[in-house]
Amino acid sequence: MKLFDVYPLFNITPVKAKGCYVWDSEGKKYLDLYGGHAVISIGHSHFHYVQKITDQLSDIGFYSNSIQNPLQVELAKKLGELSGCLDYQLFLCNSGAEANENAIKLASFVTGRKKFVSFSKSFHGRTSAAVALTDNPKIIAPVNETENAVILPFNDLTATEEALKDREAAAIIVEGIQGIGGIYVPTKEFLQGLKSLAEKYGSLLILDEIQSGYGRSGKFFAYQYSDVQPDIVTMAKGMGNGFPIGGF
Ligand SMILES: Cc1ncc(COP(=O)(O)O)c(C=O)c1O
Repeated sequence: MKLFDVYPLFNITPVKAKGCYVWDSEGKKYLDLYGGHAVISIGHSHFHYVQKITDQLSDIGFYSNSIQNPLQVELAKKLGELSGCLDYQLFLCNSGAEANENAIKLASFVTGRKKFVSFSKSFHGRTSAAVALTDNPKIIAPVNETENAVILPFNDLTATEEALKDREAAAIIVEGIQGIGGIYVPTKEFLQGLKSLAEKYGSLLILDEIQSGYGRSGKFFAYQYSDVQPDIVTMAKGMGNGFPIGGF
C-alpha cells in the first residue's frame, strides 16, 4: 500500500525536535517557524509534556468515555479558570473539524434549525458540515454541498442581519482571528454585532478558536478582546501540543 496523495509535501524529514528547533534525517538543524502546522504551542519535546504523557501511557493509555475519568474533570476545571469561561461545559473530541461538527450539530439540536452562517475566507475544517461552512469550493465535495450553508462577506453586519431575518439560522460561526484565509481580525463592532443579531433572531454564536485560541493572541481566546460571550467556543490545535485533541 502507498500513502494517499493528499497535497504536495515539503522535501524535509524531521526526525528530532527540541523547543523551537527540528533536525532532519541528515542532521541539519532548522528554526521551526511552522510549528507542526501551528499546533506545537509549548515547543517540541517540552520536559513537562514528555513526562506527563510517559507517566500516563505507563499507567493507562486509553479507555472509553463511558467510564469515570477524573482527569477530564480536572481539565474542565483548569480550562474554565484559565480561559475565564467558568460557566461553560467541556465536550472533548479528537480534532478541530470534529469540534466544529459537534458544535454545529448541538446548535441545530438546540434551535431545531438547519441553516448556518459563516464568512468569506473562513476555514472550519475538512469534514461534512464544517467544510460546507468553509469558504473554499475546492475542498467541498458534492456530498458536502448544502443550501443550509450561507457564506457572507466578513465584517458585514448588514448582510448578516439580512440572512438571519427569516429566523431559520441555527448559528453564526466565526473565527476569533481568521488563520488559513490570511490573518484577518474581526472588528470588535462586528463580533458584538453578531452576538446581538444572534440574540435578536434566536440563533447561536459559535466562536471558532481552533487556530486563534490557547493564548496565541495574548488573551486566552482572541474573541475576548471584543467583550462578547459566545454560546459555543471550539478549540483544538493549541490544546495537545500536537497530540490530537479538540473540544468545545
Ligand atoms: C479555524 C480553524 N478551524 C478548524 C480547523 C480544523 O482543525 P483540524 O485540522 O484539527 O481538524 C482549523 C485547522 O487548521 C482551523 O484553523
